[in-house]
Amino acid sequence: MTERRLPAPVICVDGPSGSGKGSLATALAERLGWRYLDSGALYRVIGVVALDRGVATDDESALVGLAKSLDIELTGGRIRADGLDLTERVRDEAVGAAASEAARHPQVRQAILAEQRRAAESPDGGSSGLVADGRDMGTVVFPGAELKIFLDASAEERAQRRYKQLRNKGITVNLRSVLANIRDRDARDEGRAVSPLQPASDAVIIDSTHMTIADVLRQALALVRERGLA
Ligand code: DC
Repeated sequence: MTERRLPAPVICVDGPSGSGKGSLATALAERLGWRYLDSGALYRVIGVVALDRGVATDDESALVGLAKSLDIELTGGRIRADGLDLTERVRDEAVGAAASEAARHPQVRQAILAEQRRAAESPDGGSSGLVADGRDMGTVVFPGAELKIFLDASAEERAQRRYKQLRNKGITVNLRSVLANIRDRDARDEGRAVSPLQPASDAVIIDSTHMTIADVLRQALALVRERGLA
């Protein structure tokens, strides 16, 4: 693993789907006034465009073609590809599954590696840092990060949270199928040969099963202060 000097301080928040890492990472970025990278959004864009264009998620070279040619913009809380706003669509369950399947391919991961690392460069040359959220931020993309948090929660708790979210959006689902989807996605993300979902050896593991978002944020901010990042 190459330890490279990062252009700005980086905090990694990795973990399985539904662990609350997106909420934690965005809250941290907001509190610190740092930038935010939602790396899952990159895989989700590849997933949604593959579904739209009929590209099979086992066709690695076609997916690499998409990953290299799409102009993906993650700004102002919106997710766009080639100018098309995909912010709402990328959250579909089917898109999450397609993203996870596309993410198994080493060359697809390679194709978006440089773009993820560029997120640590401040566009205005300033010194503000980056909070990066994903599965392999601490292990592969930013191995030299100042702080790595691995946010976990039991599959049952994550399924409950997802179920409530979907119900609040007026989507009818059953808890058993949500739990089955979560388990499938975990198995795929943890079991793949490259960059599997796993904590970096120097990550701090937080189990949020019995914690509120506010508790998790408090614990993370204490780590940020301990490391002298704020
Ligand atoms: O974080 P998310 O649920 O939006 O991510 C969607 C999928 O993308 C996830 O199931 C696996 C893949 N992913 C990945 O392989 N590596 C990342 N750093 C982020 C996401």
